[in-house]
Amino acid sequence: MDRIRIRGGRPLKGSVPISGAKNAALPLMAAALLSEGELSLRRVPRLADIATMAALLGQHGVQVLPEAPPSAGPLGQTLRLNAANILSTRAPYDIVRKMRASVLVLGPLLARMGRAEVSLPGGCAIGTRPVDLHIAGLAKLGASIELVDGYIRASAPGGLKGAVVRLPKVSVGATENLLMAASLAKGTTVLENAAREPEIADLAHCLVAMGARIDGIGSDLMTIEGVPTLRGADYSVMPDRIECGTYAVAAAITGGELLLDGARAELMESTIGALVEAGAEVASEPAGLRVRGRLRPRPGDITTAPYPGFATDMQAQMMALAAVAEGASVLTETIFENRFMHVPELLRLGADIRVSGAAALVRGVDHLVGAPVMATDLRASVSLVLAGLVARGETIVNRIYHLDRGYERLEAKLVACGADIERFSA
Ligand code: UD1
Repeated sequence: MDRIRIRGGRPLKGSVPISGAKNAALPLMAAALLSEGELSLRRVPRLADIATMAALLGQHGVQVLPEAPPSAGPLGQTLRLNAANILSTRAPYDIVRKMRASVLVLGPLLARMGRAEVSLPGGCAIGTRPVDLHIAGLAKLGASIELVDGYIRASAPGGLKGAVVRLPKVSVGATENLLMAASLAKGTTVLENAAREPEIADLAHCLVAMGARIDGIGSDLMTIEGVPTLRGADYSVMPDRIECGTYAVAAAITGGELLLDGARAELMESTIGALVEAGAEVASEPAGLRVRGRLRPRPGDITTAPYPGFATDMQAQMMALAAVAEGASVLTETIFENRFMHVPELLRLGADIRVSGAAALVRGVDHLVGAPVMATDLRASVSLVLAGLVARGETIVNRIYHLDRGYERLEAKLVACGADIERFSA
């Protein structure tokens, strides 16, 4: 099994190329199911979750062809997806259990084929993460849905019909599933209390390029005028704001300076706000975002919330930063109920953190000390890498397959900025 060894204490300096966003690329790949035409996606990151989505689409009959553009560097890839012949509308447990975002094939399959059977998902162990909102929303669009043997069995033989759907709770995945399904429904759908994450706007812009008619992109109220068919398109995936925020913390926590090449500040204002409060200098430049850390971060309180609030996917990384701050911070998690699994591992590195319900009190310590730790989910894993970058001595991160789900060439990007980090097999 692969592990990562980090020897901490080096301030990072240099430039980090930001990859295409995993959480935008996954729904964009699922959107290929909506059309007989070819969808060409650029800047798709090379990640395990992308390979899982490609395998899932492949067994539905979608041809997924990687096309290496001659001028591209080692990052990212162009994928050509062709769903002219859908062979199966069943998304099996063996693939879906690996990645919760697999449920994103439900809306497109149902809208295009009139039926879909999707296993109930697994994914990160960060809470129960049900899919009731996806199911209730699609039922509002006229689908009959039953749960049979661990599968969501949905059908709409006469096609889906537009409706007013109000999401009782903000959900990124449910908004994406409904947006895709409504694009091929008959009549008008109004999506109220839609999630506003930038990845949803990215999906909506791609759907528009495929011929969908969507109003209110970027807001919590979208109106979708269904069309009978969608065509192929050529689309570039947005930069990964969570990857970018993670490297911004790497600069801040090591007291270094990084240019995050390709970053877009307007996508991550809450993260930038928290970093500035921690004492980092953050400046927008034509190429991206420059982040400079101070000797020791200042403490600050954070509460996660749907976009444009503070992203839950950045909570673990900010906890690593708070762990070495000059004072106490309170980090409150409101999106997922079990998202403090990095805490016991950070404690192993000498952090002082006490969790009470949804809040973690983090008393900054003068320094962390390297130790063996275990990755538990994607963002928790990277928080351990960040802590390892500043800890004295050697940190070994076990179970790093979680990192490969969401960070493209993590060690290479860090080594290029002067980190002492390597992957090894043991
Ligand atoms: C997406 C992101 C994930 C991020 C999360 C919140 C992708 C591939 N993943 O996940 O990285 O952490 O948004 O920003 O984009 N919920 C229900 N019922 C449902 C659906 C969700 O109760 O049917 C709850 C969830 O358990 C959670 C909250 O709603 O408490 C938000 O979840 P949601 O926004 O749906 O997250 P995902 O789309 O799974």
